[in-house]
Amino acid sequence: MKNIWHDLPKPFFILAPMEAVTDVVFRQVIAKAAAPDLYFSEFTNATGWAAAGDKAIGGRLIKTNSEGPIIAQLWGSKPDAMAMLATHCKTLGFDGIDINMGCPDSSAVKSGGGAGMIRTPELAAEMIAAAKSSGLPVSVKTRLGYSRVDEWPAWLEHLLRQDIVNLTIHLRTKKEMSKVPAHHELIPAIKALRDKIAPDTLLTINGDIDTREDGERIAQETGIDGVMIGRGVFKNPFVFEKAPQVHTRDELLGLLKLQLDLHDKWDTLEHPRKFDPLKRFFKIYVRDFDGAAELRDKLMHAKSTDEVRAILA
Ligand SMILES: Cc1cc2nc3c(=O)[nH]c(=O)nc-3n(C[C@H](O)[C@H](O)[C@H](O)COP(=O)(O)O)c2cc1C
Repeated sequence: MKNIWHDLPKPFFILAPMEAVTDVVFRQVIAKAAAPDLYFSEFTNATGWAAAGDKAIGGRLIKTNSEGPIIAQLWGSKPDAMAMLATHCKTLGFDGIDINMGCPDSSAVKSGGGAGMIRTPELAAEMIAAAKSSGLPVSVKTRLGYSRVDEWPAWLEHLLRQDIVNLTIHLRTKKEMSKVPAHHELIPAIKALRDKIAPDTLLTINGDIDTREDGERIAQETGIDGVMIGRGVFKNPFVFEKAPQVHTRDELLGLLKLQLDLHDKWDTLEHPRKFDPLKRFFKIYVRDFDGAAELRDKLMHAKSTDEVRAILA
C-alpha cells in the first residue's frame, strides 16, 4: 500500500495537530494561504470512539476528500480500541495513523494516554502494534520525557525500536508543558540515536520553530527529515510559504472571510459549530495593517459570522 511519508520532500513541513484549531475548517484556510506538505487531525480519543461511536469524538475526524495528505492523530490506552479506530480511519481515507504520546493534559494522562504513555513503554509498544493492524503507516508524536529531560535516550530508543514510519518529538518534557524554551540543543544527539537504532524511521522536530526559514536552517544543520510547526501559524498564516512574501490587508482579510464561509458550511445539525471559539482566530488575520487594532476590537463584539462580514464590509 502507498506510504505517503515516503513521498514527502526533504525537509518536509507538517502543520502540527492542535485541538480546537486544526479542524477541517482551519486546515482549508491554511491550505489556501500556503499548504504544508502534511496535515494532522486534532487528537481523537480511541477509547471514547470504541465505546460510543462518532458522537464521542465531536467531528474531530471530519475531512474533505480533496485535502491532504493527512494523518489521523489518535490517543488512548486500550490497544483494542486503537486497532478499531485506526481501521476505521483507513476507511475514512486517512493516509496514516499518528499516536499521541505527548499530550500533558490531566484528562489524557489520568487514563494513561497522551504523555502518560511515557510511563508505560510496554503498553506504548502494544498501542503501536494495534494501530499497525489497520494496514496504515504508523507514527508517534511524543515529548522528551515525563518529568526529566534526561529520560529521552531510553524513551526515544524504545519508540525507535517499534518500527514506526516517523517519530515527531516536541522538545520538552510533559512536566515542562510549554513553559520553557524547547530543547533544540538536543537535536544532534537525537538524530544520532535515530541513525543508530532506526535509520529508516523519519525524524521530525517540533517546538518553537515559528518560520519555514528557521525549520530549513535547523534541518540543514542537523539532518533531521521534517519540521512540525504549530503556533507559528498564529503569528503568520502564510508560514509554510516557500518564498516568504509581504501580504496585504486584503489577503489577510480574505483568509478570515474564507474561514467564516467554511465555518458556516461545516456548521451542521450533526456537528454544530459555536461562533465564540471563532474569535480566537481573528488576531491571526487582523494584524500588521493600519487600523488593525480598532477593527479587531469591533470584531470581538460581533455575535455571528454575518455580523463579522458586515463589519468587514
Ligand atoms: C491549542 C493547542 C492545541 C494542541 N493540540 C494538540 C493535539 O491535539 N495533539 C498534539 O499532538 N499536540 C497538540 N498540541 C501541541 C502542538 O502540536 C505542538 O506540539 C506544540 O504547540 C509545540 O509546537 P509549536 O511551538 O510549533 O507550537 C496543541 C498545542 C496547542 C497550542
